[in-house]
Amino acid sequence: MALIGVFDSGVGGLSILDEALRQLPQHDYIYLADSANAPYGEKSSEWIAARSLILCKYLASKGCDAIVIACNTATAEAIKQIRAELSIPIIGVEPGIKPAAMQSQNGIVGVLATEATLNSDKFNALLATLPSNCRFIKQSGAGLVPLIEAGKANSEETLDLLGKHLEPILDAGSDTLVLGCTHYPFLRKPIRKLLGDTITLIDTSDAVVRQLGRQLESLGLNPDSEERGSVAFISSKNEASLLTMAKDLLSSDLNLHFTSTVLL
Ligand code: SIN
Repeated sequence: MALIGVFDSGVGGLSILDEALRQLPQHDYIYLADSANAPYGEKSSEWIAARSLILCKYLASKGCDAIVIACNTATAEAIKQIRAELSIPIIGVEPGIKPAAMQSQNGIVGVLATEATLNSDKFNALLATLPSNCRFIKQSGAGLVPLIEAGKANSEETLDLLGKHLEPILDAGSDTLVLGCTHYPFLRKPIRKLLGDTITLIDTSDAVVRQLGRQLESLGLNPDSEERGSVAFISSKNEASLLTMAKDLLSSDLNLHFTSTVLL
């Protein structure tokens, strides 16, 4: 059995935690939301790298056996340095442009991500490895993360903003859309409302959690009982609102025990 840290700028990483609780329910988790500082996507590279390192060191000091950086922006800007400084497995997330290129029928793929992710060296290096016959329509989702953080994922305000962001992707004729921020899977409903059912949505939570499972297995950290583990929530802003959001956004049939909440 392992203790796994899951870190995000806010509630977006709950989409990864949800998948982890589905695939690897016997482990214990600490979910750390830096909601006081969300969104990361509009901050400088230096700030994101420094803050992400502090928070991952904090999780390591709590005894985590592995950490998932469940934030595309923090992964893009900080994972290299975090891996260099910590000796436990650090699993990151990145926009699923590779699977999207493979699944697209017409070779036109929309990528919705934060400004910081789209401008990062890591993302652009990944983009450069993909075949040039696939066209990527890159679009910043500016303003969406604060709405999701405020519990307004399904509001008219979100639908309006999303409509504006998705327009160039729709106009280009994309048949595939990459959800390049862990907050965006919580926008599936309004995205479907705007784009219909035929567009393929790509998010990488399944692949990320499978990667986590492989890392734990290679360390011999297999569950030693069938019992569900626990989830502790830590917020840099408001523990009660994080718990409410978690109960709302995580799949309801998981029967979670919330063991502790602490203000960072
Ligand atoms: C943000 O905090 O701006 C979004 C985090 C992400 O890119 O997943």
